[in-house]
Amino acid sequence: MAKRTIVKLPGDGIGRIVLEEAIRVLEAAGFEADYVEGDIGWEFWKKEGNPLPQRTIDLIDKHKVALFGAITSKPKDAAAQELAPELQNQGLVYSSPIVGLRQLFNLDICQRPCKTYKGNPLNFIRRDGKGGIEEPEVDVVVFRQNTEGLYGGVEWSNPDQQVYDALMTHPKFNKNFGKVPKGEISVSTRIFTKKGTERILRAAFEHARKFGYESVTLCEKPNVIRETSGMMFAMAKEIQEKDYPNIYLNNTNIDAQMMWMTKNPENYGVIVSGNMFGDIVSDGFAGLIGGLGFACSAQANPDTGVGVFEPTHGSAPKYAEFDTPITNPIAMISSACMMLEHVGEYDKATKVRNAVADVISEGKDRTYDMMKMKGSPDVVKQGAASTYQMTDAVIEKLK
Ligand code: NAI
Ligand code: MG
Repeated sequence: MAKRTIVKLPGDGIGRIVLEEAIRVLEAAGFEADYVEGDIGWEFWKKEGNPLPQRTIDLIDKHKVALFGAITSKPKDAAAQELAPELQNQGLVYSSPIVGLRQLFNLDICQRPCKTYKGNPLNFIRRDGKGGIEEPEVDVVVFRQNTEGLYGGVEWSNPDQQVYDALMTHPKFNKNFGKVPKGEISVSTRIFTKKGTERILRAAFEHARKFGYESVTLCEKPNVIRETSGMMFAMAKEIQEKDYPNIYLNNTNIDAQMMWMTKNPENYGVIVSGNMFGDIVSDGFAGLIGGLGFACSAQANPDTGVGVFEPTHGSAPKYAEFDTPITNPIAMISSACMMLEHVGEYDKATKVRNAVADVISEGKDRTYDMMKMKGSPDVVKQGAASTYQMTDAVIEKLK
């Protein structure tokens, strides 16, 4: 069989470091692939005025599967100032290449698993009411609609007159905001489509069925956001009744969910949400299993097979230039496991996950975040595993 080609998108900062470490692990696990590098991120914004060049889009279009490190983003004005002199004052506006990839390839199904590793010193603990401490096991997968909703980018400040006029036709806008000067109004829309909503709901139910979860929890706010969250809830009920009668449909509001999450995280399995609430609830659960060093994600379009796999952390610029890198590679390695599953290499994914679990439960190698140290170049001297040592430990377990 011809070797598969994976597009590697290292991006910026620690993204460049952890991505190479994940590839070392993939190779040690026996995953055979060629890797081609795609240009993405801050360097290309500065040099070319485009953080996501067309040649990178073409590469992903051709090879379908990409591993992504992390990118640096800066606010609009700061971004414009860093452009090469010949690109200044041409009206170039920075926009996030990762959001761009989601839209371009319609990577609408985002999956963020948050699963406790036994022995991780960062695991969430709580009081048991009898003076003792409990460590509930978290095993949650958040399905986040990745292209619509509040992050859909349909927004205005001082909206055009026709937009304003249209808004004024809504009685609540008219009553509550109609006397506010137009120039003092900013509007961000929250658009849900039936198609996008159905796709993320079905992905969540399918996952629950395939992996034996008893329930799917819809985490939105249908009692207040009646149109979008309300539509999602009604559709979830219909899909559950018709096609997944053996899976229980749970309904939580995002605010209450953030409270229940720390009281009884073990009660949740598959969670499904719109774009922003999915972002929030997945970060919340990630905090219970160790935070950014552990939080992985997959974003895919099941119709085309295009998938981009990335840790949820950013480029951590303050740690990117250390001679010996210190950040935790597990989030990136776990994202690579999701990539393995996407291409049907389930055994290798399990092998890598077990190796990570062994390293964590053994407790000999721990990166600075796992030791609750403040990040500095000295942490390795003080006993923390470097990024390389942590990866080596995982590879050792694969042998
Ligand atoms: P960040 O995630 O890069 O780092 C925040 C802090 O979390 C770090 O300073 C470090 O203490 C810790 N951390 C992050 N990754 C870690 C790891 N693997 N192991 C151990 N500790 C880790 O977020 P920050 O500092 O807010 O943003 C830095 C840059 O990254 C910004 O330009 C931001 O726009 C960008 N960003 C990019 C993302 C992406 O590429 N998907 C996501 C989030 C931020
Ligand atoms: Mg986030």
